[in-house]
Amino acid sequence: MENHPTTVSYHLEASKFPWNIAPGKTVEAWGFNGQLPGPVLKAKKGDTLVVRIKNTLPEPTIVHWHGIRLPAAMDGTGDVQKPIGPGETFEYRFVVPDAGTFWYHSHANETVQMERGMYGALIVEDAGDPVFDQERVLMFDDMKLTADHQFTVPGGRLDRWGESHFGREGDTFLINGSETPVLGMAAGQMERWRLINASSARYIRLSIGGKPFRMIGTDGGLLETPRTMTDYLLAPGERIDAAVGPFAAGETLSIESLPYKGNHGKIRAGEHYGTVSVGPRQISRAFLPEQLRTIEPLAAQDAPATRKLKISLGLSLQNGADFQFNRTRHGLDQPVRVGELQIWEVNNSTLMHHPFHLHGFFFQVLEVDGKMPEYRAWKDTFNIAPSSKIKIAWMPDSRPGMWMYHCHVLEHHTAGMMANFEVVDPEQPAGQANHRHVNHCH
Ligand code: C2O
Ligand code: CU
Repeated sequence: MENHPTTVSYHLEASKFPWNIAPGKTVEAWGFNGQLPGPVLKAKKGDTLVVRIKNTLPEPTIVHWHGIRLPAAMDGTGDVQKPIGPGETFEYRFVVPDAGTFWYHSHANETVQMERGMYGALIVEDAGDPVFDQERVLMFDDMKLTADHQFTVPGGRLDRWGESHFGREGDTFLINGSETPVLGMAAGQMERWRLINASSARYIRLSIGGKPFRMIGTDGGLLETPRTMTDYLLAPGERIDAAVGPFAAGETLSIESLPYKGNHGKIRAGEHYGTVSVGPRQISRAFLPEQLRTIEPLAAQDAPATRKLKISLGLSLQNGADFQFNRTRHGLDQPVRVGELQIWEVNNSTLMHHPFHLHGFFFQVLEVDGKMPEYRAWKDTFNIAPSSKIKIAWMPDSRPGMWMYHCHVLEHHTAGMMANFEVVDPEQPAGQANHRHVNHCH
C-alpha cells in the first residue's frame, strides 16, 4: 500500500464570529472559517499542504503547525515570519512527512487568540493505518467566561498574577467547541479517537466512563503496540490516539477528567466534558493489529546529555515571578548542527507541571527521573511533573533556521518560559539565520 503524493489546498479565514457553545450560550469567538474549532484539515502522508490564511481579525496573527516536521520558514512563529496583519493573506506550503494527529493554532497573542478559539486539527493519514469503524477528532478546551458568556479579562494585579502563574483555566468545558456534547456511537464497534488538548493550561486526566481503552498513538504517530489503560493525563498541546469500544447497546459513558493534583496544588475534582451514548449494535469491520509499527531507538538510556535545560521561576519585582528556561526569559540557546544527535536533559526545578514542547522535531524520551519509560514513542510535547527531570533524544535533520522550545501552558510561554535556537547546516545556509524578529509580549 502506497500513497501517491498530491497537493491539498485549503483556504482559512481568521475572523471574529458569534459561536454557540450550548443552547442560549453564545460567545464571541475568534477562529477559522467561522467555526470552532477550525475545519479539520486532512492530507495523506507525503502530500504537499497549501494553506492560504486570510486575516480579517483586528490584530495580527500567525499560524503554527504543531508537530509537523516542516521547513523553519513555514513553522509559523514570530521568529521566522512577519505576522499576518489585518487584511493580509499568507500562504503556508509544506510537505507533511508523517502520519498522525497534529493541530494548527495561533502563535501570536496566544493567550487571547487561542483562548477564543484559534485552533483546529490537522490529520495526516497513511494507507497502512489500522482500520476502524469510525474515526473522530476530539479537541478539548476550557473557557473562562462571565455569567453572561463574555471572556473574562483578568482585572486586578492579583488576578493577572494568578493567571500568569497558574495559567488560565476556565470552568466551561468543551469538546469540539460545544459544551458537554453527547456523542452517539454504535454498540459492538471500535472507533479511532484522535484526542487533542487545545486548552491554555488545563490538564485532562482523560477517562471514558472508566472503561479500558487502547492508546495506539502519540504526538508523532502510532506506537509500536497498543497499550490498554483506563486514564491518561493529557497535557496542554499533547495528543493521543485511542481505540475506543466496543461498548454495549444502552450504555452511557462520561468523557471526563478524573481528579488530579494540578498547578494550583489542590486536588481537582472530576470534570465532565461530554457523554458517549451507545445505540443499537452494528457490524464491525475494525481490526487492530498487535504490531502497529517499529520505532527504532535514537539513543541508549545512558547516553550522556549533550545539553542541560533548566525550567525555573525567578523572583521579579515587576511580574511576581519570571518564567524561565536556563534562568532567562525568552532566551536564545546555543545552535545545534544538522546530523548531531541531541541528548537533552530538561530539569523542572519548579513545583508546577510544565508541558515541554519542541517545535519541528520529534523526540524520544529516554528517561524520566532516571527511569526508562515503559514504551517508546515519538513526542513533541511531554509533561514534566513538578521537581522532575527528563532526558530526551532528537536528531536535527537538514531544516536549518530558527526554532524554539517552550512550555505549552500559554501563559508560561508568554511570560518567558521559552527559548529559540538555530539549527545550522554547514552545507545549506539558512539565509535568515542571523535575523531574528523579536515580537514577544514582554
Ligand atoms: Cu503548539 Cu509553539 O506551540
Ligand atoms: Cu509551564
